Amino acid sequence: MRVARYCLTVVTAAVLASPLHAQSEMPGMGMSGGWRMVPMDPNMIMLPGLTGVVPVVGAFLPAAGINPVSFPEAEPSRVVEMIDGDTLDIEVSIVRRSLNGHEMVMFGYNRQYPGPLIRAPKGATLVVRVRNEIELPTTIHWHGVRLDNEFDGVPGVTQEAIQRGESFVYEVHVPDAGMFWYHPHAREDVQQDLGLFGNLLVTSPNPSYYGPAHREEILVLDDILMDEQGALPWGESAPTHALMGRFGNVMMVNGETNHQLSAKQGEIVRFFLTNVANSRTFNVTFGGAQVKLIASDVGRFEREAWVESVVIAPAERYVVDVRFEEPGTTLIANSIQAINHFRGEFYPHVDTLSIVTVSTETAAPGISDSFDSLRMHDEIAAELEPYRPHLNREPDYELEATVRVQDLPPPIVLAMEADTLFFPPMEWNDAMPVMNWLSTGDQVTWILKDRDTGAENNDIDWNFKVGDLVKIRIFNSPDSFHPMNHPIHIHGQRFLVTSMDGAENQNLVWKDTAIVPVGSSMDLLVEMSNPGEWMLHCHIAEHLSAGMMFSFTVQGQ
Ligand code: C2O
Ligand code: CU
Repeated sequence: MRVARYCLTVVTAAVLASPLHAQSEMPGMGMSGGWRMVPMDPNMIMLPGLTGVVPVVGAFLPAAGINPVSFPEAEPSRVVEMIDGDTLDIEVSIVRRSLNGHEMVMFGYNRQYPGPLIRAPKGATLVVRVRNEIELPTTIHWHGVRLDNEFDGVPGVTQEAIQRGESFVYEVHVPDAGMFWYHPHAREDVQQDLGLFGNLLVTSPNPSYYGPAHREEILVLDDILMDEQGALPWGESAPTHALMGRFGNVMMVNGETNHQLSAKQGEIVRFFLTNVANSRTFNVTFGGAQVKLIASDVGRFEREAWVESVVIAPAERYVVDVRFEEPGTTLIANSIQAINHFRGEFYPHVDTLSIVTVSTETAAPGISDSFDSLRMHDEIAAELEPYRPHLNREPDYELEATVRVQDLPPPIVLAMEADTLFFPPMEWNDAMPVMNWLSTGDQVTWILKDRDTGAENNDIDWNFKVGDLVKIRIFNSPDSFHPMNHPIHIHGQRFLVTSMDGAENQNLVWKDTAIVPVGSSMDLLVEMSNPGEWMLHCHIAEHLSAGMMFSFTVQGQ
């Protein structure tokens, strides 16, 4: 191993000494198949032997060769208020957008970015007629909603994918209050990235479900990978970036790269955060403002809590109340410890998500007293009572997250196997953009393995009954070829994260997605409340497309 360490160090130093971003401008590099070199920043290194190499799959851009001007321009999201029995038509179509100075061809739900914000009361059933006008087969999955199985939107499990020119009618029953979202369940790495996502806010009949706030803001967090020409192409038959997922280099809030807000002094703003990025976990900070954590995916926390920041993995939602006290500018930002895998170093990195201008006008009415106190929810504590005896018990099932690779370019394999690489518990950024880009879903298989039976992914065969409480331990092996954090999502049910690495969770909340850092064990208590065939998968879009999924059945009673 000494030798490998030595070689890689020398190579690294040599590469670092050369002008890196000259790579993509070098003439005659022979980028084939419609590919362009991935953008890199100076903290990243280019492995020798990979110059001019492109992914083994073809490049995909929507409506390639058609002048963007021929498509309608997308508009910001609009609110659609719905009540029980209402019908909404959603058209999935090609739109034009100007993003970060580029004219881009993207996808949209009703030509909006994000898609329409649906607001509906808890208990309603909404009819949504979806028509597909894009070139890729699609579906809509109602993420986190415990709806009827046949409307879950999973091609090959609950329905056939909707082909171009075809329609599908969803009946979306919303039994839980909270912030949910909807997105395709087919090649999410392409379709979601190109703009297919929207929120579904289910309101509680209880007027004091949340504490007092002056107003509500919705922040849909996303990123996209772009260079001087626009969006970097996606993989045609399989995803690129299968190792770490496709991290973007341009941050967006509600589809905008220059999101701004204004607030009055002392204003308490309730933020509903949703992460729709393919792979990026955000660490959201609110400058010096005070942040109170209220709720997550499928409900409120037992107890409100003060937090410094909100770590939000792909597909998760969090609700926070934030008080803006300092007149001037407050930045909402993604504040991370970026990593250089080769040097084993972290460096602080901050990306602005939104700029909040706070005026000297005082917010009214004065609700600061209620903001200053943290609420305890007795009704949630009471609701959780029947689950408490199960919180500490041993798991019924254990899954191990790992990866298998084949036919990767040798320089990537050599680099991964050198013991100079350090894999952090969380990948906050993509510090190996070329290696990541070149690893496609054809070469990388992400695996959930049942530790009892050895069955992997779709070979796992779990059967439950409505009413079962199932304890699942998910161990994220640090010893695989390329360990990575995984946001695990379970369809159609809700769960509690009861412990992480043996440490009991002291403030429970119902979830549908939770992230397991590298090397960690996460225990979930899943309430099997909804009959049907349901998926369990990683929500990094590229990991999902690279196999990291299976479905289980829940029998009705
Ligand atoms: Cu939000 Cu199966 O996904
Ligand atoms: Cu994953």
